[in-house]
Amino acid sequence: MFSDIQQTVLTQQQIADLVARLGEQISRDYAHKNLLLVGVLRGAVVFFADLMRAITIPCRIDFIEVSSYGDGTSSSGTITLRKDVKGPLAGFDILLVEDMLDSGNTISYLRRHFQDCGAASVKCCVLLDKQSAHAPGISAEYVGTCAPDGFLVGYGLDFAQNYRHLPYIGILRPQVYQGQEHT
Ligand code: PRP
Repeated sequence: MFSDIQQTVLTQQQIADLVARLGEQISRDYAHKNLLLVGVLRGAVVFFADLMRAITIPCRIDFIEVSSYGDGTSSSGTITLRKDVKGPLAGFDILLVEDMLDSGNTISYLRRHFQDCGAASVKCCVLLDKQSAHAPGISAEYVGTCAPDGFLVGYGLDFAQNYRHLPYIGILRPQVYQGQEHT
């Protein structure tokens, strides 16, 4: 295990099992719909690439990039839209694909963003749901698993743009980020 990682949260095999289950569920639910997967860059990139290959029905893909964490460990609360989808979106069943639901700021922003785009539906799929970090009213329609407390990295998740390449998800040692906050 990488020395900056305090504890593994999900192994590669556990992630693969969750992705397979979500892929089956989404393929079943969207079988007669017009599925457009929208990956939320950058954190969702690894999850997105695996999930789309676990989906067995026709679908299209696009990406949106938003950011709110900067180099720190807590959400700034201000979402910056860096790249939008290309569209047109009319008639599509949009499924937003996110790595993590934490404070809920990003998912709430994205639901508002796609509200009046003419899509047939807008839903969210997250690999990790940190339920202790957001209000109970905020949720995703598809959830891989609950996330524990602690700062999670790997499988697309970063701290200050590092650790995204790790093939598993782990809790970052607090010593790594204490005293290094830049928010
Ligand atoms: C992270 C993560 C989610 C979001 C979840 O993105 O990838 O998109 O935060 O947190 P929230 O529920 O508190 O909004 P970040 O803003 O760090 O950008 P990134 O995807 O480029 O890592």
